[in-house]
Amino acid sequence: MELIKNLHWRYATKKFDTTKKVSENDLNKIKEAIQLSVSSYGLQLYKVLIIENPEIRERLKSASWNQSQITDASHLFVFCNYTDATPEAIDDFIKHTAETRNLDLERLNGYGDFIKSKLAEKSQEEKTGWLKSQTYLALGNLLSACAELKIDACPMEGFDPKEYNKILGLNKKGLNAYVIATIGYRHFDDYTIGLPKVRKPIDQLFEVL
Ligand SMILES: Cc1cc2nc3c(=O)[nH]c(=O)nc-3n(C[C@H](O)[C@H](O)[C@H](O)COP(=O)(O)O)c2cc1C
Repeated sequence: MELIKNLHWRYATKKFDTTKKVSENDLNKIKEAIQLSVSSYGLQLYKVLIIENPEIRERLKSASWNQSQITDASHLFVFCNYTDATPEAIDDFIKHTAETRNLDLERLNGYGDFIKSKLAEKSQEEKTGWLKSQTYLALGNLLSACAELKIDACPMEGFDPKEYNKILGLNKKGLNAYVIATIGYRHFDDYTIGLPKVRKPIDQLFEVL
């Protein structure tokens, strides 16, 4: 199975080769893999920023424990959840579904109401957690797509979301930086290349009932 081989090949890259850039063509494939990510109800209540600008990256590095990947990688992806699931966002999704599938909007309104009623049952804290968790599914697809394309990547939580929100002006857009990923090509002297993977044994990780 190619996926398993790819997952063994990939590793959380610590040092990127600053001279190598991901091509536009590969970038488009990674974007499409993210676009195809699953999400709860299909709502996709997040936005993905791709940061190329070196000055912005330098500022973000200071807000990311000074991790070198932020400035040295080819591209920086910032996965931002919307801070609220508004009724308008759900209406837009229902309208989009009706248009895409050539269905009567009237027939889908009940589904929209169902989503709204389910979300109304959640506290704001639960809703925030739910909104944030969607971004991880997109991150997972980025990592798998990169591995297939033999593009290195590092998923990262080692940053200050408040600082990111400030630097990127996210609050006024109703967004929150939740998880990030750097992509590019490994530097030959990254000390972590080839380290054996540390994973729990299958029989410890799974339990069959
Ligand atoms: C959500 C998340 C956050 C992470 N944050 C960082 C980080 O800030 N810096 C870093 O170098 N690695 C980070 N990692 C990488 C993990 O440490 C790494 O994936 C894990 O140790 C497994 O190793 P592997 O990815 O090389 O197989 C993060 C991974 C995940 C999934």
